[in-house]
Amino acid sequence: MNAAPNAVELAPGTHWIGALDPSLREFDIILKTANGTTYNSYCVRGDDGVAIIDTVKASHADEFFSRLEQVARYEEISTIVLNHLEPDHSGALPELMRRAPQARLYISAKAQLMLKALVKTDELQFSVVETGDSVDLGGRTLHFFSTPFLHWPDTQCTLVEEQGILFSGDVFGCHFCDARLFNDKVGDFRFSFEYYYQHIMRPFREHVLEALELLEPLQLKTIAPAHGPILREAPQSYLQRYKQLAAPLLHNEVGTNDKSLLVFYISSYGNTALMAQAVAEGAETEASVRISLYDLQASGGLPFVDLIEEADGIAIGSPTINGDAVKPVWDLLSSLAAIKVRDKLGAAFGSYGWSGEAINMIEDRLRGLKLRVPVKGVRAKLIPNEEELQRCRELGKQLAQHLTGNLERRVISMSELLSQEQANA
Ligand code: FEO
Repeated sequence: MNAAPNAVELAPGTHWIGALDPSLREFDIILKTANGTTYNSYCVRGDDGVAIIDTVKASHADEFFSRLEQVARYEEISTIVLNHLEPDHSGALPELMRRAPQARLYISAKAQLMLKALVKTDELQFSVVETGDSVDLGGRTLHFFSTPFLHWPDTQCTLVEEQGILFSGDVFGCHFCDARLFNDKVGDFRFSFEYYYQHIMRPFREHVLEALELLEPLQLKTIAPAHGPILREAPQSYLQRYKQLAAPLLHNEVGTNDKSLLVFYISSYGNTALMAQAVAEGAETEASVRISLYDLQASGGLPFVDLIEEADGIAIGSPTINGDAVKPVWDLLSSLAAIKVRDKLGAAFGSYGWSGEAINMIEDRLRGLKLRVPVKGVRAKLIPNEEELQRCRELGKQLAQHLTGNLERRVISMSELLSQEQANA
């Protein structure tokens, strides 16, 4: 099934010349690849020139050059397009440019600095392209579409107009290695397509929707991504699936102008739970904010990450145990890397026995994830007293007011943090 094929024709004069990596089991550390992956690269022949679309990982360059040589001579190559500069697609680029020095390289504007960092020379000649630009190969026209942040800032797609083939880079790709190459021939890769979207594209779903607006009107016969099967059977269905995946996951009954605040907590002796309740009570005093309260102790398998993706703010309560927040809190926080949380509001609170580091640690992590933390968290030694519960209510109220815009947007200064630390000590 994974016997390496020769260059494979997609349409007259257009070939797959990529590489197979069937033994890969982990991609970029974070992705499992149950049967490996492919680094797809393509060759488009026009009457006046030959274009190479993307290259492969450096370790697989020999395979790529061997297939390229089956369909083109290096001196025929007039055009090289890099849709995305991550090393799994740019690894063989320096050697390709050495072998075809006359070729012009086309990249997106945001790829320029990355290119210099990868190739380590200022002498490289290239052209920057954006949506609306094209290259005429003679009877074959390459049109460029800027699709930034799918999943790097530099990403773009390239269409061969006459053949309706979209070279889509990582978009619509997946890590699935099958030498039969085409979606109507390979094994069942649906899980891999979904898994790839969830881990690679999901944090950028607003950009996915923007890209779909650009790509949906195209008359596509084939989508040729940079990983996994080439989608020649029902290519539009993959656009539709992306549209479903990028759409809000849940219908939220909150009025369209209302805001949503999620209060999560975990509690050993009920003290942090009392504080969570007080945070929620305080937030509820602000009209048009919907408050939800969740105990992380019962979080196994619950789709909190989906809820957070839709929410406007989160408050997290944790006791401090052995100088740290507890594992369910870290599990929740680590799951947020899969979604866009930038500019949501965040806050922390919790009870502690003798130190209470968890609050600062959670706040630091929230800031690291690019949430705004507009209100300093509340700590309470063991059982919260009425004054501490009142501070929790005030925390909830202020968070809610920040959500509705009834409190001025602010950033806590370091001196303010230090003076609050002293007051809390
Ligand atoms: Fe397949 Fe983002 O590289």
